[in-house]
Amino acid sequence: MSLMNKRIVLGITGSIAAYKSADLVRCLIDAGSDVRVVMTENAKRFITPLTMQALSHHPVHEDLFDVHMEAAMGHISLAKWADLILIAPASADCMASLAEGRADDLLTTLCLATTAPIALAPAMNQAMWRHAMTSAHRIALEKQGVHLLGPLHGSQACGDVGPGRMLESRDILEKVSALFETSLLSGLRVLVTAGPTHEAIDPVRYITNASSGKMGFALAEAAHVAGATVTVINGPVHIKKPAHLSCLSVLTAREMHDAVMTHVADCDILIAVAAVGDYRVETIATQKIHKESVVLSLQLTRNPDIAASVGALPEKPFIVGFAMETENLIARARLKRIQKKMDMIVANLFSPSCGMGCEDNEVTVISEANEVALPNMTKHQLARLLIEMIANEYRIKNS
Ligand code: C5P
Repeated sequence: MSLMNKRIVLGITGSIAAYKSADLVRCLIDAGSDVRVVMTENAKRFITPLTMQALSHHPVHEDLFDVHMEAAMGHISLAKWADLILIAPASADCMASLAEGRADDLLTTLCLATTAPIALAPAMNQAMWRHAMTSAHRIALEKQGVHLLGPLHGSQACGDVGPGRMLESRDILEKVSALFETSLLSGLRVLVTAGPTHEAIDPVRYITNASSGKMGFALAEAAHVAGATVTVINGPVHIKKPAHLSCLSVLTAREMHDAVMTHVADCDILIAVAAVGDYRVETIATQKIHKESVVLSLQLTRNPDIAASVGALPEKPFIVGFAMETENLIARARLKRIQKKMDMIVANLFSPSCGMGCEDNEVTVISEANEVALPNMTKHQLARLLIEMIANEYRIKNS
């Protein structure tokens, strides 16, 4: 189960089950998601905003008209930020409001303002759950595409026995993870290269670049969520590697080349995101170089081109490459795709605020049949979109 890098708004409404939201927020964070908590007035009668703030590591959003919160992350920004709005517990009143499209507090307003999926974990007395109006609201919500998680049948806080118990955190987590899963790459094996390489100059110095590995790992994660078996061959990066990805760390371009050539026969799709050093120092000094001369010359020699080596194989996988340029982006990317025999290339213009080492990216995706310019978005959003595009083109090519 993984919710790696998913942005979740956790809505809490007035129900005794609100005490379980404390455990739920921890489970969501442990699964890799970033959580912002929104509490209704009645939720605060059952659990304090301070508890939820401490557990989520962010201030709790409580009021639609809170000047400070609106200045920091307003309700519309929060609605856009979310990958999912999860309301747990969702009271009968909350279900009624949402079914009727009301927007009379922050949480219901967010639900109307978001395009993200919405999931509810209802919690209420069994008679309230069985009431014809609640059933009508449930049906209306399901028609709107809202996901209902539970409730369970069992003993209730009020002493009744029946349907209306909120699902346990682990079960909510499992169902929420399943909402994000697709089968776009199910059964396929994806190899991803990520991060920079280091080319040693002497025992203490090396040549590298600004690549962080964020785009490569975001794509690896998105491929995993889409059902692929993923192997990452990464250069030196400072990223926490999720346990569900099989990662192989290398240092130099030649090591990355050899690792890719060893694994490539077992992959259907290669996504070459790594910013591989094009040159290495011909003769690495065995001892630290001292600053004796005013000018120091290093003789560099070309590294193997990994993507091109794979492109030259008689039985090659579907190849996706990246091209980062400071000028003539599209023309160079088109040419690169053809020269390296790639199926698709993702082109991005160099900018200090976008792309290499940053959180966001703005790219044009080029294949033989299509050229699509995408707007600026986070690397995780982009990764999900790219995986859809890759799966689509892969299917067309192999049909
Ligand atoms: O030629 P350029 O370095 O701009 O090409 C970028 C693309 O080629 C990326 O997909 C990158 O991962 C890949 N590449 C490679 N081996 C190299 C250089 C680049 O696989 N030595």
